[in-house]
Amino acid sequence: MKQTLKRTETMTSRRSFLGKSLAVGAGAVGLGLLGHGLPATASAASTGDPTDGDIAILQFLAAAEIIESDLWQQYNELGGIQDAEVPGGTGNPIYARAITKLDLDMSQYIHDNTEDEFSHWFFLNAYLKSKGAAEVNLDKFRTLPSSKATGAQQIGRLTNLMQLTVDTSWWTRYRSRTKNPDLGDTFAPAVPGLLKGQFPAIPRSDADLHPHNHIQAIANTAGFHFATIEQGGSSLYPSLAQRVTDPEVLRILLSIGPTETSHFQTWHDKAGNAPALTDPTNGLQFPDLNKPPFGGQDFQTNLIMPEPTVFLNGSLPAVSIIRPTETQGAAMGAVKALTADGLFIGQSKEFFDVITELAAAADRAQRDV
Ligand SMILES: [Fe+2]
Ligand SMILES: [Fe+2]
Repeated sequence: MKQTLKRTETMTSRRSFLGKSLAVGAGAVGLGLLGHGLPATASAASTGDPTDGDIAILQFLAAAEIIESDLWQQYNELGGIQDAEVPGGTGNPIYARAITKLDLDMSQYIHDNTEDEFSHWFFLNAYLKSKGAAEVNLDKFRTLPSSKATGAQQIGRLTNLMQLTVDTSWWTRYRSRTKNPDLGDTFAPAVPGLLKGQFPAIPRSDADLHPHNHIQAIANTAGFHFATIEQGGSSLYPSLAQRVTDPEVLRILLSIGPTETSHFQTWHDKAGNAPALTDPTNGLQFPDLNKPPFGGQDFQTNLIMPEPTVFLNGSLPAVSIIRPTETQGAAMGAVKALTADGLFIGQSKEFFDVITELAAAADRAQRDV
């Protein structure tokens, strides 16, 4: 009985947030629902009855999907297909041509990945609303400049694709047969240069469209960045799913997560086609990953499926798995990775406060068994 009363009280306080301004919805949710310092759990869960912890996880994922939608939208405006399914932008033929060096179907894949992210965002927010919980809205943080290159809309953005520091260590992580990041192992990047500076993944203006190896380096950067983003989603969903309580919320995470992996698999394959070159404007090098000192088990470009590796502990046989999937601190880990990527360069302190609070709330969630 006590538990039922507690649950009703929680639902009431949750609903009270619906009246707040959407622009501050995310912050209000974090502070209001979870600011009491208790673990974000609730009892008496049944199908379709999310706990406070489940709501916190869904709200963080909604924020992550809004961020993904924003960056993919920018890629689609310049290098994808602009149509009724993914409107906005008019395309940049020179950038799009450079991207097709990775695969002739790249514009279709960029379009489809973008559409998927919007659908993740819209679904998660609609689900939250259907459960009487506050939706996440980051519109007030759409303040970063657009690319000035032909094809881009001139609107405020949440993310910055023009100063990226791309971590390509997923390349060797998924090829390793003996290491796992969840056991403390670290991995060499496939493109070391992308970790040593800030590089555009879209042309900043039409001045970036030449010389040829410069715009190709920008397209290559995008090609590796696509996979960097989607491997993050591939880990985030299974990591957070381990702390979900309600079966229906678990179903949502288990149904969206593998689509991130389907994106990652595609981008992993395409990144291997990025032409080896040096950007004459900044010295950024894309190596031939099939030749020494690269090549072999760790770098060979057609090894795009996860190699079996150690999982849980060394006494069990190697197994082909998503990695990492450690649940503790997974949401904050995602925020740190996206920040290190350079995506939020130029964002306000308030933006970081809101995102950090959403991640902290998601990481306080505990599975209520
Ligand atoms: Fe997504
Ligand atoms: Fe994604």
